[in-house]
Parts: sequence; C-alpha cells; structure tokens
Amino acid sequence: MTKVGIIGAGRLGTIVKDAIEAGLAPDCELVGVASRSLGVTPSDLADKGAEIIIEASKPAALRECLVGLLERGVSVIPLSTGAFADEDFLEEVRRTAREHGSRVYLPHGAEGGFDLAATFSLLPGMKGTVVQYVPERSGMPDGNPMKALPEHFKGTALEGFALSPSHLNVVIESAIACGGFGNAFYETRIPEDGKGGFSLELENDAAEAVITIKNKPPKDDIPMMSMIALSAVSTLNRVTQPVTF
Ligand SMILES: NC(=O)c1ccc[n+]([C@@H]2O[C@H](COP(=O)([O-])OP(=O)(O)OC[C@H]3O[C@@H](n4cnc5c(N)ncnc54)[C@H](O)[C@@H]3O)[C@@H](O)[C@H]2O)c1
Repeated sequence: MTKVGIIGAGRLGTIVKDAIEAGLAPDCELVGVASRSLGVTPSDLADKGAEIIIEASKPAALRECLVGLLERGVSVIPLSTGAFADEDFLEEVRRTAREHGSRVYLPHGAEGGFDLAATFSLLPGMKGTVVQYVPERSGMPDGNPMKALPEHFKGTALEGFALSPSHLNVVIESAIACGGFGNAFYETRIPEDGKGGFSLELENDAAEAVITIKNKPPKDDIPMMSMIALSAVSTLNRVTQPVTF
C-alpha cells in the first residue's frame, strides 16, 4: 500500500479525502490531511511516512512546501498548478525532483487528453490550444470568475492565464502536457449548445485531435468540481496501480 497525504481541506481536498476513504484508490492508504485549522503541516505528512501527497490548497501554499517535499523524496500531485506559470519555479522543481528521485504528477484537472498531448509534442508543428466555453454571462452569479473573461479571447497560454490566475490552473497544466509554454495557447468561445466546459485542440504535422469536456447540470449527490478533484485520484491510481497506462 502506498502511503498518501492531502494538503488542503477545502472543496477539492474534501472530495479527494472522501474518495480515498471510500476505496477509490485501492492501492493507497491515507495517513493524514494538512490543514491550517487542524494545525497539521505538509512536513507533518512526510513525517508520517507519506510517499505521495495530493495538494489541493493554494498556489502560494504549493510554492512554500513543494521543493522541501521533493527533497525528502515525497512525490506530489498538485492541483494548484498555476504556481508553475513561473518558469523559474518550474525549473527548480524539475531539478529537485531529478536530484531526489521524487516526481510531480500533473492531474488533468478541468481538461483531459494529456497522454495524447504528450505524444503530439514529440513531432514537429506541435500546437495545443485550451478552449474555454463560457455560456451566457448574464445568468452567472456575481463573483463568478468566468463573468470577467472576454467573450472572444485568443492568446498564448501565459497571456490567457494572466486573465484570471486563480481559476485558470488548467491552462498551465495543459501547457506543460503540450511540451511547454511555447506550444500552448488559450481561447474563449461562446458555446453553441449553451454548455460550459473546455476543449484541448491538438495539432502537429501528422495529426489533429480535439478532446472536449462539457458540464452537465449539477446533481445533488455529486459535489461541484468532482471531476476536477477526482482527476487527482485517478492520477494517484495511475502511478500506484500495478497495471497502468
Ligand atoms: N488544476 C485545476 O484544473 C484546478 C481546478 C480548480 C481548482 N484548482 C485549484 O485547486 C486548489 C484547491 O481548490 P478548492 O476549490 O478546493 O479551494 P478551497 O478554497 O475550497 O480550499 C483550499 C483550502 O486550502 C487551505 N489552505 C490554504 N493554504 C494552506 C496551507 N498553507 N496549508 C494547508 N491548507 C491550506 C484553505 O484553508 C482551504 O481550506 C486551488 O488552488 C484552486 O485554484 C485547480
């Protein structure tokens, strides 16, 4: 059994904890949750023997603890991937993980198709575009970050991320899956079917692909953002199960 910890006890962290406790990561055992209110730190999780930690806190909190965890040989599945928009930090993380045999496993978050993106990036002409479908803004509650996004934006991944850094983590993790920020772009579109969601549009000199995820109307028994939180659990399974992909 792989010993697992979680950083963050908010919306995503709670879904991840419930999923592991319900047996959705059968090769893993939860050793603890780091949370400021509980007075438990990420380093306490490493002291308890955590081999892999799922982070679901804030980009600043991830920045604070990630290098130290990697130095202790602990691998991390981060959800606050916006922290990697700082390429110097990303490089420091790569260097530390190489030196200490630890790993950062990026979950697909609100998007998908990272396996395909990684293959596309091995041939010339690679271009990956995260398309965000933003439905009619007038029906959105105030404070919804999507309300402030331009209706038709087209730019690089980093320009897109800068529009709303607290909710566009997905643009950063997709850019890394596409082989780097130089290959990666971001667009907003109004969906013809009225449904919000994301596509990852891939192309290189050999092929094209589109992977789309659209939100269904919320159901009472499925917490909001379940798909995003569970992407960390499926990543955990991918790196701990004996037959993987
Ligand atoms: N990768 C993606 O596609 C994606 C999608 C949505 C959200 N996110 C990111 O995932 C993270 C979690 O999102 P959420 O909706 O659960 O947020 P949330 O605000 O509901 O919960 C965050 C929790 O982290 C805690 N926290 C903050 N600093 C901490 C620290 N130093 N140590 C321990 N806990 C700390 C907060 O107290 C809070 O309980 C955020 O950074 C969010 O931007 C990523």
